[in-house]
Amino acid sequence: MNNENAAKLDRRKLIAGIGTAAAGAMLFGNRAFGAASSSLPSSPSGISAWDLARDETYWRRVASFYDRTEGIVNLEHGYWGKMPRPVQTAYLEALQRVNKQNSFYARKEFSADYRRAVEQVATLLGAEPDEIVLTRNATESIQSLILQYKALKKGDSVLLADVDYPSFKVLMRSLEQSRGVKAIELALPRKATQADLLATYIKAFDANPKIKLMLLTHVSNQHGLILPVAEITAEARLRGIDVICDNAQSWGLLDYRIRDLGVDWAAFNLHKWIGAPLGIGALYMRRGTREKISVHPAEKDLSSTSVSARVHPGTINFAAILAVPDALEFHNAVGGANKAARLRYMNDLWRNEAETLSHIEVLGGADPESRTGMGSFRLLGKNSDDDAKALQKKLETDFGIFSVARYGLADGACVRITPQVFTTPNELEKLGSALKKLCG
Ligand SMILES: Cc1ncc(COP(=O)(O)O)c(C=O)c1O
Repeated sequence: MNNENAAKLDRRKLIAGIGTAAAGAMLFGNRAFGAASSSLPSSPSGISAWDLARDETYWRRVASFYDRTEGIVNLEHGYWGKMPRPVQTAYLEALQRVNKQNSFYARKEFSADYRRAVEQVATLLGAEPDEIVLTRNATESIQSLILQYKALKKGDSVLLADVDYPSFKVLMRSLEQSRGVKAIELALPRKATQADLLATYIKAFDANPKIKLMLLTHVSNQHGLILPVAEITAEARLRGIDVICDNAQSWGLLDYRIRDLGVDWAAFNLHKWIGAPLGIGALYMRRGTREKISVHPAEKDLSSTSVSARVHPGTINFAAILAVPDALEFHNAVGGANKAARLRYMNDLWRNEAETLSHIEVLGGADPESRTGMGSFRLLGKNSDDDAKALQKKLETDFGIFSVARYGLADGACVRITPQVFTTPNELEKLGSALKKLCG
């Protein structure tokens, strides 16, 4: 390691806890990409997140940290999040350092860097470090929770919903074969308020008294619908139902602390809305709740109470984990609440227009509390998979707008629109004008 890189590593090691997203800007000046950090976006004080959401000067500055997709208006940012340039630089530097130092780094220094990343993730989530283990993605976290959940017995029921992530629905249904339980899939209303959603879940709980375990998605990947997780979880708890929460799409798209949701177990990734390199997820297990999730069978100590014993990932992407503090720093510099408000505002820009068009059907949240920066629509009455595929293709080829078709809702397929913090109002106006022309 040359002196300069060693100094950078030492500076990185100095980074301890971070401020909360709601607090906006935080630590600068002691990080790997040094000079760049002093010019990170810093949100103005004394202005609400909602007012800042309309401040184009501020968001142009934020956008200047990102490289843009070329050749198309990209409104498909629900797949994974783009790293801002300072995070990408830190990642590339880490990759070079790890590759150069190889096992000497991994065996001697990585565990301290890993712990630091976990501490910072825990701080931003409002959790304790011993409640968090980093995984490769939300899928790995959810698989551990669902497949290692111990408390099911033959004859029990498990609950899932149409808005859940498709492969997680398959996984929940697989418990029928492997555990002899009945899987019940709830169809949520096409458009719903928080009250409607809570009522739908309560009705399902009351109609199915054998439910023992449920999957609950904080923000659906189909249309960005927010589920009232805290309220549903409280009702589930009253009935002895355990909740596994999928937060893959919500962390960073919304600004919250895990305790706000009241859940015992949750799965995250950091490569969507936190802007970390691809391949970083997290598993949260509240203290005192681990006995119901067995230790991963590849672990030596099957009686371990540690959350990290619930996964067994093998060799991981060291460099990606090293860049996690940089991603959190950038996220905090923009401000979690500011990001959430801006993305909601961007969603409103096309959505409000779409709501006025009689040939367009907008799906998802019927009240502001149920809506995020992500949204979906379809042509009225055209809800087959082929309809959604054709609509996505038309937007791409005729209007130069990239989106994605989603097929998981009981109500039928749709096209999902997901702006990012660097998306411009002009790009959403283009979508609005395309929607008008889709008539007939
Ligand atoms: C709601 C939801 N859950 C889970 C996942 C899977 O996340 P990961 O790719 O991190 O495993 C996604 C990915 O799109 C998602 O949108």
